[in-house]
Amino acid sequence: MKETAVYTHGHHESVLRSHRWRTAENSAAYLIGELRPGMSVLDVGCGPGTITADLAELVAPGGRVTAVDAAADVLEQARAYVARRAPGAPVEFATADVHALDFPDDSFDVVHAHQVLQHVGDPVRALREMRRVCRPGGIVAARDADYAAMTWFPPTPGLEDWQSLYRRVARANGGEPDAGRRLLSWARAAGFTEVASSATAWCFATPEEVAWWSSLWADRTTASAYASIATSGHHATPEALTAIAEAWRAWGAAPDAWFSVLNGEILARA
Ligand SMILES: C[S@@+](CC[C@H](N)C(=O)[O-])C[C@H]1O[C@@H](n2cnc3c(N)ncnc32)[C@H](O)[C@@H]1O
Repeated sequence: MKETAVYTHGHHESVLRSHRWRTAENSAAYLIGELRPGMSVLDVGCGPGTITADLAELVAPGGRVTAVDAAADVLEQARAYVARRAPGAPVEFATADVHALDFPDDSFDVVHAHQVLQHVGDPVRALREMRRVCRPGGIVAARDADYAAMTWFPPTPGLEDWQSLYRRVARANGGEPDAGRRLLSWARAAGFTEVASSATAWCFATPEEVAWWSSLWADRTTASAYASIATSGHHATPEALTAIAEAWRAWGAAPDAWFSVLNGEILARA
């Protein structure tokens, strides 16, 4: 089976601005304690590769990382990033759809996907495929945001419009924006019996964090793939998107602005 969902965000600069901030420490802390030198890791949906590079450091010396993504353009950016940051690091890149990975059974010690399962057409099948390529006793790790559980201050009706519009568009694209709360049930449906489930939050509260988060979402709302899908799918008019972008900028200028993104996590034993 090939992927049926459309990746809602696309890889516009405003999207990558947020993905490039991610590190293993701020986005895969639940997995770090499982990693050892010498391990082989598959990073599924690696995006621009900042977490991938951290994973490679965490399994050095002797380890190796294979990074795959459905989008060839972002994979090239990941390749360039890793080459700049860690020339000669044992990281390989390939395009792949998580529903049909081109690797033999039992190829990796750890199979990881960060903010990917929310975007795919069949997350249960994706998890089965991740388990197939993971050696018995290895770890399948996934972490996804939960859009309905995102919360912020001050209350801003325009951000409520953003939240409900984003969730409608993501579902129309075949994804599940409230994935965080579903990861455990998807893992059980995929046949995993040993699953540790947890949740951690990103919190943006300093003036710099608030300025970064609000401006990237304002830009995403009018300029990313999500914006074109929202208008071409008749989920929103260009005027409504402009109003949401303005709401993001107004929220970002509010005193004591605060935003939290809840993320669900699973460590499933293959
Ligand atoms: C939100 S980004 C996360 C990128 C990276 N893991 C990170 O957290 O910075 C999701 C990535 O998953 C990729 N993706 C979406 N559907 C996919 C699929 N079916 N198979 C593999 N990758 C997929 C997208 O192209 C995108 O780069």
